[in-house]
Amino acid sequence: MLKSLFRTKSISTLVKDADLPADDIHQHGLKRVLTARDLTFFGIAAIIGAGSFSSLGAAVNAGGPGVVLLFVICGIACGFTALCYAEFASRIPVSGSAYTYAYASFGEFLAWIIGWALIMEYSIGNIYVAFSWSDYFTSLLHKMNVHVPDYLTCSYHEALIAIKAGTTDKEMLSAWNNAPIVGGFKMIFDLPALIINLCISYLVFRGVKESRNFSNVMVILKLAVVALVIIVGGGMIFSNHLFSNWTPANDSGVHTFMPNGFGGVMSAVSGVFFAYIGFDAVSVLAEESKNPQRDLPKGMIWSLIICTIIYILLSLVLTGAVVYSKFAGVGDPLAFIFEKENLNLPWMQILVAFCAVIAMTSVLLVFSMGQPRIWMSMSRDGLLPPAFQKIHPKFKTPSFATIVSGCVVGIPILFTDKTFVLDFTSIGTLFAFVLVCGGLLIIPRREKTHTGFNMPFVNSKFIFPLILIATLAFIQIQYGSYFKELLNGDLTDHSADANAPSYFFMTPAMKIGTIVFWLLCILLAVLSWIRTFSLIPLLGLVSCLYLLTGMSGTNWKWFGIWFAIGMVLYFLYGYKNSKLAKEAKA
Ligand code: ALA
Repeated sequence: MLKSLFRTKSISTLVKDADLPADDIHQHGLKRVLTARDLTFFGIAAIIGAGSFSSLGAAVNAGGPGVVLLFVICGIACGFTALCYAEFASRIPVSGSAYTYAYASFGEFLAWIIGWALIMEYSIGNIYVAFSWSDYFTSLLHKMNVHVPDYLTCSYHEALIAIKAGTTDKEMLSAWNNAPIVGGFKMIFDLPALIINLCISYLVFRGVKESRNFSNVMVILKLAVVALVIIVGGGMIFSNHLFSNWTPANDSGVHTFMPNGFGGVMSAVSGVFFAYIGFDAVSVLAEESKNPQRDLPKGMIWSLIICTIIYILLSLVLTGAVVYSKFAGVGDPLAFIFEKENLNLPWMQILVAFCAVIAMTSVLLVFSMGQPRIWMSMSRDGLLPPAFQKIHPKFKTPSFATIVSGCVVGIPILFTDKTFVLDFTSIGTLFAFVLVCGGLLIIPRREKTHTGFNMPFVNSKFIFPLILIATLAFIQIQYGSYFKELLNGDLTDHSADANAPSYFFMTPAMKIGTIVFWLLCILLAVLSWIRTFSLIPLLGLVSCLYLLTGMSGTNWKWFGIWFAIGMVLYFLYGYKNSKLAKEAKA
């Protein structure tokens, strides 16, 4: 039984099963139309969206200007991970992303778990983007004097939580009090979020070529507006001498870059990491790329580099333009900095809101294309029913999987809220990234190829233990009692104590996560000594594990439930119907 859980699929079988052709159009499958530039555009389309236009507000409020550091940390973690994805994409040029890679390295059970985590990334992530899209869209309509009833612009769950907390928010109160009651239920749901999901699902159903052109135009537009925010906002910080916003006073009156300490910065990890999610979506387009081995790595790495630079500049502009504490409860931070009481540029406010709608539409599009393709790969392996690999005869898209994926996003829009889906998506995606980096440490090294991407091999045997020892020594010298505090079991939440050193601002879950993180680092240092691991995936693994230490206890609880449901489904269907299982029996 244990052996069969870890049965792996060889890379040659993965490629053969996908029936990859050299010609332009797949005999039974998807059209090969995408170039490296298209893939870079797809990456940017997926990356810049609700994270920068919406969740950045809460992140800035939690971490202050120091949130820039978190963008750098996340950028580094995603950079290492992108190199791992690139190496895998170059070795295994078939659809399925991290799922396919895990099948080759860890075996079937973990591949299923990764596929399951990717459903969380693409579907649940799309729910958050759809909610944010709706926020900006309704506020744009509002500016044009078109008013949608409040009970049709927020989710039931969001309204319920707000009412229970005794909210004074006019929109929430109006939604709750004015909603029609049908069959004993208050009819509160986010109608624009539902409609955009329907439209995007239809577009993806119709085919990748149309979607590509649509997406490229949107990417150019959103890059232009983000550049404008950076130039105009940045220019005003200098002309109005607003530099003091970068070192605001904390609760004790001390001026600092991190007013809530480093723990405050780390507590923003879900929102910041969410902003980076998407570069990996490029890898699910392997079977639609003209030259996947060469172009997928290029697309991923370029899109990530461009977005990291944008995010660092954007967070500097935001925290420079307006003091961080004013971002509490702000869902449209890029438009907010241009409000009357801030930089006072109404035309920028409207332009940003308009472009936010466009930016988020392109994220929805890319994620909606990613999800069905992963299901298609899982179905090919027998882990999902055969209907998921059905390709539409005319549009050449995975039609059934696209419809199901639309429902997986659409139905929860009625029952969930933004915060929940944001945390859920980030933890699921980080988990998938951990497995991708770890997978690359496990699969055997290969000879360099002349056609695809070759990840440089740097032996970690001496370097990694040295990096670890230097880091531990630095922390001990700089923050005296850090390890003592972590190890003496003090799991009290000190976040309300203004005089406590910065690392005290950790919730109990963050402390437990941090202890486990350091123990894993020591284990990895020993293993890297014994097994001469490659340094890049090792650093990718460690940086993603570090980001996981910022997750709250509630995040872990829901992740655990999701994980358990995934296991039950695997044992009920995938374990028995897996192609590998059937081949072994035959
Ligand atoms: N990175 C994507 C966004 O921010 C998920 O919308």
